[in-house]
Amino acid sequence: MHFVDIIEKKKRGEVLTDEEIRYWISGYVKGSIPDYQVSSLLMAIVLNGMNEEETFSLTKAMMESGDIVDLSRIPGVKVDKHSTGGVGDKTTLSLMPMVASCGVKVAKMSGRGLGHTGGTLDKLESIPGFSVSLSEDRFVRQVNDIGIAIIGQTANLVPADKKIYALRDVTGTIDSIPLIASSIMSKKLASGTDVIVLDVKYGDGAFMPTLEKAEELSKEMIKIGRSYGKRVAACVSGMDQPLGNAVGNALEVKEAIDTLKGMGPKDFTDLCLTTGAVILQQAGVADLQQAYKMMAESISSGRALATLKQLIRAQGGDERIVDDQSLLPQASHITKFRSGSAGYIQALPAKAIGVLAMNLGAGRETLDDIIDPSVGIVFNKKVGDKVEVGDVLAYIHHNNPLTSEWVQRFQQAVKFTDQPLPETPVIEKVLI
Ligand code: URA
Repeated sequence: MHFVDIIEKKKRGEVLTDEEIRYWISGYVKGSIPDYQVSSLLMAIVLNGMNEEETFSLTKAMMESGDIVDLSRIPGVKVDKHSTGGVGDKTTLSLMPMVASCGVKVAKMSGRGLGHTGGTLDKLESIPGFSVSLSEDRFVRQVNDIGIAIIGQTANLVPADKKIYALRDVTGTIDSIPLIASSIMSKKLASGTDVIVLDVKYGDGAFMPTLEKAEELSKEMIKIGRSYGKRVAACVSGMDQPLGNAVGNALEVKEAIDTLKGMGPKDFTDLCLTTGAVILQQAGVADLQQAYKMMAESISSGRALATLKQLIRAQGGDERIVDDQSLLPQASHITKFRSGSAGYIQALPAKAIGVLAMNLGAGRETLDDIIDPSVGIVFNKKVGDKVEVGDVLAYIHHNNPLTSEWVQRFQQAVKFTDQPLPETPVIEKVLI
């Protein structure tokens, strides 16, 4: 087989066989097919697509490129959730203790942030002492002992995706439904849980531009997961503005803790309650309505907060941060950003805000960048809020002086209107 023939075939819009896809993935992981040829094929896939069978073959070939985690030593239903990525997305930190406190087993592998999107591991590592690398044995033991563990993906979990994702990131080939679906589902299937709930984002800060595209991606991923006998559902939500108020690692940990104390922002709390209800429903714990009540109760009873403390302690972190948030990394300066306009906030574009937070040091532009866990932005006003001139729009937590260029970009990002805006629910569709 010649790889160039496979590229030519996809360039003509033809369908690749399972054998050709397996040849591609194994050759690329082994190093016998170079980056430039794979880039070319990826672009042909972005432009000409893949049918369902090709997407299934690609998912399988990627999943089988490395280890498949065996969670059979953990009795009970194991659940996982995956967000397609966003700004201010600290969902795992609140949601997973909530569902674990209701009796399902959370054996979760998370990722790091890149570009304008944040990653759960970076957020967890802003907790002093918290370790995201546990051996498989310790991971399994911890889930059996306390019902929850959150770690980084092991080095050999879907190595094909590690290589392909890095290449897609620099070749303009991220935004393709078959490539995103196979990338996400190969990792979720290799992680070995029984239930997978997908938190699929669309809008300015997301890979999917519209609700329709996000639904199409969700349906594709649900079909792939179900073909492996997994229970899969999706919640589709907008990412036109950051989720919650905080963007930045330690600031998001603080907001996640506040949420478990019943003092979280409404949009973020709603997302956790609904997604959690879907997880419990898929796990067979309760019907949706009952599961929603259980989620609310996990907060009001303090059970979810106690589970978060257990998780932090088990993974070597300083659990005192739950009660004393001054023990989290703190930036040396907090600057109030005041509004120069009056009206209603029309837009806080998530992508621009994510890049602004990254420029403060909260994210990484390249994989080697080092994150400053203390910095970020905490919004005091969100889309739809009424603002007077001089009101504080946001608190900027920073360690370096804010440049006039940064301030200008922030000012330009916030858009105003003189008309009140209709309220939209954070989750727009649940696909069960
Ligand atoms: N997240 C992933 O893991 N893969 C993609 O392709 C996009 C988002």
